[in-house]
Amino acid sequence: MKLTAFSCCALACCAGTIAVQAYAQTAAGIPHLQKQGTATQLIVDGKPFLALTGELGNNTASSLENMQPIWAKLVAGNLNCVLAAVSWAQIEPEEGHFDFALVDGLIREARRNNLKLVFLWFGSWKNGLSSYPPLWVKQDYKRFPRIRIKGGKSIELLSTLGDASRDADARAFRALMRYIGEVDGEQHTVLMIQVENEVGVLRDSRDRSEPANRAFAGPVPKELMDYLQAHKDTLAPELREVWAANGFKTSGTWEQVFGPGKPDSVDMPIQTNSPPLSQEEYQTGWRKLHWPVDEIFMAWNYARYVNKVVTEGKAGYNIPMYVNGWLQQPNMAWPGTYPSGGPLPQVHDVWRAGAPAIDILAPDLYLQYFDEVCDRFTRNGNPLFIPETGANVANVLTAFGKYGAIGYSPFGIERSVSADSDLAAVYGVISEMVPMIAAHQGKDSITAVRLNQGDAPKSVRLGNYTLELTYTGRGRAPIAPQPAAQQAGGRGQQAPAAAPAGRGGRGGASQAPAEAAAILIAAGPDEFYMGGGGFRIAFTANTPGPATVGLGIVQEGKFADGKWVVVRQLGGDDIGQGEILTLRPNTILRVVVYRYE
Ligand code: DGJ
Repeated sequence: MKLTAFSCCALACCAGTIAVQAYAQTAAGIPHLQKQGTATQLIVDGKPFLALTGELGNNTASSLENMQPIWAKLVAGNLNCVLAAVSWAQIEPEEGHFDFALVDGLIREARRNNLKLVFLWFGSWKNGLSSYPPLWVKQDYKRFPRIRIKGGKSIELLSTLGDASRDADARAFRALMRYIGEVDGEQHTVLMIQVENEVGVLRDSRDRSEPANRAFAGPVPKELMDYLQAHKDTLAPELREVWAANGFKTSGTWEQVFGPGKPDSVDMPIQTNSPPLSQEEYQTGWRKLHWPVDEIFMAWNYARYVNKVVTEGKAGYNIPMYVNGWLQQPNMAWPGTYPSGGPLPQVHDVWRAGAPAIDILAPDLYLQYFDEVCDRFTRNGNPLFIPETGANVANVLTAFGKYGAIGYSPFGIERSVSADSDLAAVYGVISEMVPMIAAHQGKDSITAVRLNQGDAPKSVRLGNYTLELTYTGRGRAPIAPQPAAQQAGGRGQQAPAAAPAGRGGRGGASQAPAEAAAILIAAGPDEFYMGGGGFRIAFTANTPGPATVGLGIVQEGKFADGKWVVVRQLGGDDIGQGEILTLRPNTILRVVVYRYE
């Protein structure tokens, strides 16, 4: 199948009549998800793909001209993939008239730069609101109804209860996916699709339009009740508590089953820190649920709508599809200050029940509680893909090493990407370790550790050993042990002269004290691979035998074509004369230990 220059304002057709056949879904190598232990991996052309990516600003990819200077920077920043928005307004400017020229050009340019793509479908919703549907949708507010918030006011936010909106969105999305399948079904440049963006009701806790009020006063749909009963023991604890508090009812209206919604007397501020919250409210409010029934009701209705869009899209071309959530947070703790009903952890079960076609529920992770959010987003086997976040090196290593992530993606990447950034350095480390990380994700032979300056050393059990990691940051590595100091606290003697601080070739030249982080892998009974850095690492054996653990082989290197390639064989000063293992920042080591007495 050839990539054709396909400017098809001329292709005046509705999705149902597009002459293009959907690409044979059985094609070898088509991107798909596959479980490995507790992790889920993205398989592309038969191999796990770790997406070292970034998300472009909302409108950055809206023309090829605007993208032109950006591609090379993404490559220089060690990205292997980029997230780019495709808007409904741009592909269907007139009802039934599709224009895929931009999509076509983005795929072509990505290939030229050896990058993969994840497209974001900005359809009915983006950050809750509906600014990306075409004008013909926006203008026809009777056919495509808006929600209403307290006081009966409508806002530019399509209601989930508008079947015509859902069907029109699904038709356009199916046409887009058919097109992508047609032009990319063999080369697999497009790996996944984000469907909509941060859906949910803003400015009130739920839709208060007349159809919504009617549905809210009616019974909880049987499909949802059945799902909750079938999964009672594994439901997210937050949801289970709400259901339990109301007596685990198996039928009834929404408020009978899940308790009362937001009272009419309460106004919804735009953010909950206006008027200011107390310190206690600020710290605890965002971890509690407020009027959960409103959020559960909206989650169900968004899930049903998006499920239809995804199902139609997959009928066009079946690659993994995910939705992303704007999270509850300290200054946005009440539903409606964050989009109410989005795919947040407290309502993941509602999304699973209402939208089985969706593959991944993904966090837009700007909170400082990175591990806590990852824990909540990997419950019940949800795959981890982080489409929006910051460029934090320790978070990158943690995501792939500890949480089996499919991908990591700082937002607004075109503004920060550069060859000598910390992000480029850590992406370089991971891309050189892909075969090893991919082989171990989801198993107990891999983990990641992070430590800040001043933190106590951390111990992790890995394979037959316990590794104790002590923060060294970007500091100099000791060239020889100092027995007294070691006994007192394991600190080695500092080098009198500057020791090499990492390989340097991967950039990341910042001088600030950095959080240390590394991925650690037990590849065999006595063999370890580790990437990242800023630690001294001591081994203790967990199995019977000689008590002392020595450094048998220490190599710096990388994987090329799946094979380990040694770049430096280390001894002497670089490993404290055989007694101090230091993993310097942005380094990959292979370490074989042995035991003696
Ligand atoms: C989250 C949204 O999903 C993005 O599209 C963008 O608006 C960012 N917030 C801005 O920080």
